[in-house]
Amino acid sequence: MAFTYFFRDRQTLDMIRKHIVPRLISRRFIHIWDAGCAMGPEPYSLAITLRENMGKMIFRNVKIHATDIDNSNLFKKIIQNGVYPVEQLRRIPHDIFTKYFEPAEQPDYFIITEDIRKCIEFKKHDLLTLQPVRKDNILIVCKNVLLHFSEKERIDVISMFHESLEKDGFFVIEQTQKIPAELEGMFERVVPNAQVFRRVN
Ligand SMILES: C[S@@+](CC[C@H](N)C(=O)[O-])C[C@H]1O[C@@H](n2cnc3c(N)ncnc32)[C@H](O)[C@@H]1O
Repeated sequence: MAFTYFFRDRQTLDMIRKHIVPRLISRRFIHIWDAGCAMGPEPYSLAITLRENMGKMIFRNVKIHATDIDNSNLFKKIIQNGVYPVEQLRRIPHDIFTKYFEPAEQPDYFIITEDIRKCIEFKKHDLLTLQPVRKDNILIVCKNVLLHFSEKERIDVISMFHESLEKDGFFVIEQTQKIPAELEGMFERVVPNAQVFRRVN
């Protein structure tokens, strides 16, 4: 089910701001994979968080590869357009809303500013094919997706994420998800009490 909303997990966005952004800003290419992105609120919230905490020039190096199995076949268009009805935008902090959302042509709809829209590329992709979208990601975010998989599928998908990360790359899952015991040597925890990991090995 594609349940999602803007700034759904502010605690994790805050961890990314504090612990990951400082490791990204010296890079020429910043490839991020948001796996199971639904119709866009999660990758857009991440993009806005990065833009807020990086200079404009550095932010131009960011590319978020947003993917989803997308059974509805609608997400690409929704994400590319970046237009959302106002009732889906009520949880966004006011200062962020006024800075990154402009009234769209249709009444009661808002469009995300172009610099944010440009950094996200959507691709329809089934994680269970175990095909990485690319192998030089510095950050992979996969939240509220793995819980739908069997234990074996989770192990296979997380192993594929490990291979898709650069050495020292970061991996973020939701608070209630765990790294399976079989894979614990592949990642180290970046902060206690948060599901933010760094690739090791
Ligand atoms: C609950 S939503 C999570 C959205 C977002 N990550 C969040 O946390 O707000 C789960 C998403 O996982 C996607 N999904 C389910 N199975 C998938 C698969 N095998 N490959 C890729 N995406 C999948 C669904 O289409 C849905 O959009």
